[in-house]
Amino acid sequence: MTIDFDRVIDRRNSHSLKWDELESRYSLSCDEALPMWVADMDFRPPEAVNDMLKSAAEHGINGYYGDNNQYVEAICNWMLRRHDFVVDPSWIQWVPGIVAGYSFAIQAFSKPGDGVLVFSPVYHAFGRAVKANERRLIESELVVRDGQYQIDFDSLVSLVDENTRIMLLCSPHNPGGRVWSEQELRKICEFCLERDILIVADEIHHDLVFDGNKHYVTAKLSPEIADKTISFAAASKTFNLAGFMTGAAIISNPDLRKAYKKQLDAAGVGPTRLGPLATAAAYDHGEVWLDKLLPYLKANQELLCEGIERVIPGAKVMRLQSTYLSWVDFSGVDLPMKEIIERVERKAKIACNYGSAFGKGGENYLRFNIACPTSLIHEAIKRLEVEFQDL
Ligand SMILES: Cc1ncc(COP(=O)(O)O)c(C=O)c1O
Repeated sequence: MTIDFDRVIDRRNSHSLKWDELESRYSLSCDEALPMWVADMDFRPPEAVNDMLKSAAEHGINGYYGDNNQYVEAICNWMLRRHDFVVDPSWIQWVPGIVAGYSFAIQAFSKPGDGVLVFSPVYHAFGRAVKANERRLIESELVVRDGQYQIDFDSLVSLVDENTRIMLLCSPHNPGGRVWSEQELRKICEFCLERDILIVADEIHHDLVFDGNKHYVTAKLSPEIADKTISFAAASKTFNLAGFMTGAAIISNPDLRKAYKKQLDAAGVGPTRLGPLATAAAYDHGEVWLDKLLPYLKANQELLCEGIERVIPGAKVMRLQSTYLSWVDFSGVDLPMKEIIERVERKAKIACNYGSAFGKGGENYLRFNIACPTSLIHEAIKRLEVEFQDL
């Protein structure tokens, strides 16, 4: 089996959000733009996933999916092998993507007007889900210390009130790639327990952690924390399967599980056919692939850091401990943000995510997806060098 992340695969005209919506979203042609925005990778998944899809196509019948034993077993085995987390199969609930998953949690465990605490800047769908469900978004702004995000514990107490029902935690954190320490996680979870705040832990990036960093599973911190936690995990970021819209809610507390399941039933949610099959194939056979992917992503990230900081004086790239979403601070660049976006997007034709979409504290940042062949990163740096050479 060859795993070749350098290979450029043409994704144009493949119904790819990242490539085929460059025109409608950025007014950029997919023939010349570099899409470094939405979080999927330009890589094929482990071969076992495509083998499974081929055999499903050969069989050819796409009726309703049933018998999820292989799916839940694959998740349990993965959690044990990669995260030392013992999960009972009964704790697992299929969800149609993680964003939908935590939206259902918001609906099940709070009511309109209630507060939902997030640590901003954070993945833009957090704020969107909270607001779309008419809950109050409480943003605790992260602080940068030693080049990394840290939780501002001192200001937390004044932010929450008795109507704050949920903490939506991104662990590891997107953007910025912070892998929270055990001590930080414990402190923030205990803060929630003291105030009867439900912990909703989006751990979708948990497998994309670089050497020297350790991801701590929130629900593993203590039985009391587990009892008050809904965790979300998926193979979608890890193995580039986002289009299957498949994730898992993992809930050990039977009462929480029952209430959550009720919310899913009310919405008529049931599993897709190929999502669980692809997930199981990736978890069961994708470990070698993942272990090759991680150093590749790390090298891409180092290349981007070095390149951006060299060609754009004043730009500072946060060193990722996790994720493939490079987070670049332009506050030290001697240009207004509007002009920086103009040069990056309109002139260099690089589509990236605006930091302002990630909430408070993101205003001076841009996010670049580095999960692509290294040649694309080289090209991006080359273009940026041209556009910022006057600085
Ligand atoms: C933290 C986080 N949660 C959820 C998602 C999206 O998950 P899904 O596509 O399963 O809804 C992303 C995608 O970038 C993400 O970064």
